[in-house]
Amino acid sequence: MSNSFELQPVKIKAGQRIHASQSCLYSNQIEPISAELLGNQRCAFVMAGPNHPGIYSREHLLAVRFLPRSWAKHFSGTQIQESQLNSLLQEELQVLRNRKTALVNRPGDAIRWVHGDADGIPGIVIDDYGEIVVVQSGSQAGDFLLPLIIKTLLNLTEKPLFERSSGQIRALEKLPERTRWIRPPSSTQSVEEVVTSLSGLSMIFRPQRCQKTGLFLDQRENLAMLRNILSVSNARSMLDLCSYAGAWSCAAAQTGILEFTAVDQDKDALELCATNIKRNTTSEKSDAKINLLHGDLFEILSKLNREKQTFDVVVADPPAFTKSAKHVPEARRAYQRLSKLASRLVNNEGIYVACSCSRHIDEEDFYEIVSSALDPDDWIYLGRGRQSPDHTVLATDKHSLYLKALYFMRRGSLAQFSSSNISRGENP
Ligand SMILES: C[S@@+](CC[C@H](N)C(=O)[O-])C[C@H]1O[C@@H](n2cnc3c(N)ncnc32)[C@H](O)[C@@H]1O
Repeated sequence: MSNSFELQPVKIKAGQRIHASQSCLYSNQIEPISAELLGNQRCAFVMAGPNHPGIYSREHLLAVRFLPRSWAKHFSGTQIQESQLNSLLQEELQVLRNRKTALVNRPGDAIRWVHGDADGIPGIVIDDYGEIVVVQSGSQAGDFLLPLIIKTLLNLTEKPLFERSSGQIRALEKLPERTRWIRPPSSTQSVEEVVTSLSGLSMIFRPQRCQKTGLFLDQRENLAMLRNILSVSNARSMLDLCSYAGAWSCAAAQTGILEFTAVDQDKDALELCATNIKRNTTSEKSDAKINLLHGDLFEILSKLNREKQTFDVVVADPPAFTKSAKHVPEARRAYQRLSKLASRLVNNEGIYVACSCSRHIDEEDFYEIVSSALDPDDWIYLGRGRQSPDHTVLATDKHSLYLKALYFMRRGSLAQFSSSNISRGENP
């Protein structure tokens, strides 16, 4: 006999208007569901209006997070069977896997199978790294759904399954950290290190000691763009700021670059970065020269500037400088300072890539911030990149289009030319 879940109706508060484009219901828009009705749970399955099934979280500002609309007909009574939810989830995850694989269109690459609320699976991220699948819950709603998700995943895949529910977002919600094998690897598989492919790069990460679920899969297309740009350049040296496990350096290594400086405050990640660069170096003539700088990005950048060091490629891929709209002014200043310090280190004909994963700074604003930090006249803009398409974007929520990557090339310096020739009135 299958277990069942109570289904609660959602009542909109008098005077509140719900917009068709809302991706959730806020706590000030609905009547709270009493603790008594919720039993000892913090969450419940709910039905909002005729066609919005969702998960209610008692203590959350995002009070109702929506499940797929296509599930509405199964949410019509006062209860829903666990077996019904399992088969709905199984169907949904299969559809998502097929869509993501087609969108990414890189056979063998790791994919973001489920991207949380944007995919209709509130609070849950699932990344398939080929060798293993990693699941992450980032909220109360995610924790509520997780046992059903795990059951479904164990049915859908035979791969080892790891849970990595950790990070700032859980800390903010006062949720405990959980990192554990749900289905451990077989005795012949390595538990320590996972080898995977991202944008065709061969990358290693350690599930027990990593950030996010393992790698930053959202940069997939942007890594490919750097590789395309470098494939027709004579670049030899690269500075990878906030390198983590070195994905950007690996993309450069595949084009023949052999001198790398990687900066990060995560010591484990820097070690992996060196390993990953070596895995992706294509040159047989000599070994890659790798300089690992452990410490704060801004301190190290200031030092490199004082030492007048220069590089043919500089990539700056920092963490989000703001997680809320309130701190956007400070974040804008930090991005500007970063671009000023980083772009000064780029040689003539060299490439500067500036990234931002701050949801509260949009593409045009970021372009303005970065371009205004570059020396005037010295640069051309080559193009921009965004998050990999397996990181689903809600058309109505511009914040879900969070990742930005801008590519610039430093030209021969017009400023030097004008000060030596034009200002003295000489003919060029
Ligand atoms: C967005 S991730 C970088 C992702 C990486 N470039 C990639 O593509 O895999 C940001 C990185 O910045 C590092 N970081 C955060 N604050 C830092 C700081 N103040 N100085 C140096 N590194 C920092 C984190 O450890 C993390 O590895």
